[in-house]
Amino acid sequence: MEELIERAGDFIINSRLTLALTGAGISVESGIPDFRSAGGLWSRFDPAEYATIAAFRANPEKVWGMLREMGQVVDQARPNKAHVGLGELEKMGYLHHIITQNIDNLHQEGGSRNVIEYHGNSSTLSCLWCGKRYGTDEKRDEVPPRCECKRILKPDVIFFGEAIPQDALNRSFQLASSARALMVIGTSAVVSPVNTIPSIAKQNGAKIIEINKERTHLTDSMTDIFLEGSAGLIVSDLVAAVKKKGEM
Ligand code: APR
Repeated sequence: MEELIERAGDFIINSRLTLALTGAGISVESGIPDFRSAGGLWSRFDPAEYATIAAFRANPEKVWGMLREMGQVVDQARPNKAHVGLGELEKMGYLHHIITQNIDNLHQEGGSRNVIEYHGNSSTLSCLWCGKRYGTDEKRDEVPPRCECKRILKPDVIFFGEAIPQDALNRSFQLASSARALMVIGTSAVVSPVNTIPSIAKQNGAKIIEINKERTHLTDSMTDIFLEGSAGLIVSDLVAAVKKKGEM
């Protein structure tokens, strides 16, 4: 593994544009379950019944049952070594942007400033009827939270069936097409369109560094260096290797 970390560090040091694509796996060590691992969220809540915009519109109270449970876990979560390590890489100038599928705000709390959120962020809520927006914190005691117009509020996260924010799509595709290194961390890469990022980067000459506790469909088809294990440990080791090379 050490030799792989060294090689990945060389890719990053020599890359003039490095990106990270992250998924739920990077936040598991912060106490937030992922979706598709054993015991993940979708093993307990059927996404067809809880994670589509149609399900929310049909039965918002039911969907808020899951959202409330997720919200309590996200509230207690703090950035782990992987989030902090990516923030350090950005500060050192070795990571230019993060493209994340996560809604937990942990990259920003871990020190990263350049974060593109494909699936929104759970820190605000909006009314689908009158458009008014609230901070999630100010509605914490209401289950489900309601707008002053009395309708049930929706978190500003992207449900299945909703469009990905256009600026996130445009910016991420533009960056991926000129990246020289792409770290893919803690994602099963099964949800589109975000899962096209690795192939766009690869087609344009980027080296793909995958960090995951298990192999994915990218590992044998696209990945140049597969660093198997927990994101917190591996990102920390990778940052240490980059720091050492940067001082040489
Ligand atoms: N370290 C590294 N990888 C991990 C860890 C860990 N500690 N824990 C889990 N993983 C890996 C799993 O092996 C898996 O490959 O993270 C990945 C998580 O995959 P998913 O649960 O499918 O999460 P994600 O890829 O982010 O899902 C994408 O699907 O349901 C939607 O909107 C939801 O944003 C989410 C999207």
